Amino acid sequence: MTGRPPGSERPTAPPAAPAGHSEPIVQVERVSRRFQVGGEEIWAVRDLSLRIERGVFAALMGRSGSGKTTLLNCIAGLDRPDSGRVYLAGTEITRAPERQLLQMRRHAIGFVFQSFGLLPLLSAYENVEVALRIAGAGLQKRRARTTELLQLVDLHARSDHRPYELSGGEQQRVAIARALANDPSLIVADEPTGELDSGNARAIFDLLRRLAHQRGVTILTATHDRTVLEFADRVDEMADGRLLEHHERDLTVTARNRPAIADEPAPQASPGR
Ligand SMILES: Nc1ncnc2c1ncn2[C@@H]1O[C@H](COP(=O)(O)OP(=O)(O)OP(=O)(O)O)[C@@H](O)[C@H]1O
Ligand SMILES: [Mg+2]
Repeated sequence: MTGRPPGSERPTAPPAAPAGHSEPIVQVERVSRRFQVGGEEIWAVRDLSLRIERGVFAALMGRSGSGKTTLLNCIAGLDRPDSGRVYLAGTEITRAPERQLLQMRRHAIGFVFQSFGLLPLLSAYENVEVALRIAGAGLQKRRARTTELLQLVDLHARSDHRPYELSGGEQQRVAIARALANDPSLIVADEPTGELDSGNARAIFDLLRRLAHQRGVTILTATHDRTVLEFADRVDEMADGRLLEHHERDLTVTARNRPAIADEPAPQASPGR
């Protein structure tokens, strides 16, 4: 016993925030990452702090070399900061053992890359399904989920196509379906439209926005593509490893203007919004 007076058994710590309201999915606290190349020290990320709430589409912009990819890698557990802390859904990952990071990358985070990263010999269907296989899903679940995801990205009719039989925009939509396979709370997308024309880039950003707003997935993208300004809820600009600006849109307005999606169930009351 701690000798509390009678009637004061309740902990004195402040109550937890209401679930899904103010707990950020991504929380970066005073993170720095520097590289030593020859005799030169490069501060890719400097003392940077950032919070991103659930169901938000967030974009990082900034010149080449400003530190966007380095920051994404630290957030996604692909790299470790030299100092500072990163939390994902409230759990600190900065000092987590590699096995735990691997599980987290497999189950809690979806990755989307500039060059799509699809396996060339597999069909669109198999490229999505393989992520479910790796995570150990059974046949029934794999079939149902893969079909649902290809419908979600409007590519069900292209299930049997191999990557070279798909346009760049279609390939990136398959990659997004694959990233969603294990129902991640966060999707990290580094230059997802870097190899696409402006029409396809708009379609990809629109899809990412809908995933955030209708399914509550948090999206964090690094991009040079200014089209993202029309779609993202917030845009942070990096320069020399630091954040410069932060424009947060009125999310209510974004929600009101939310476009309807074919083949998509009515949005659930998504947490955090
Ligand atoms: N593994 C590494 N070793 C040494 N230096 C690195 C490494 N990774 C990144 N850097 C340096 O850190 C800085 C930030 O790189 P980063 O890739 O994060 O930039 P970026 O904003 O993503 O650029 P881009 O828009 O060109 O993708 C750059 O100066 C880069 O040269
Ligand atoms: Mg980069």
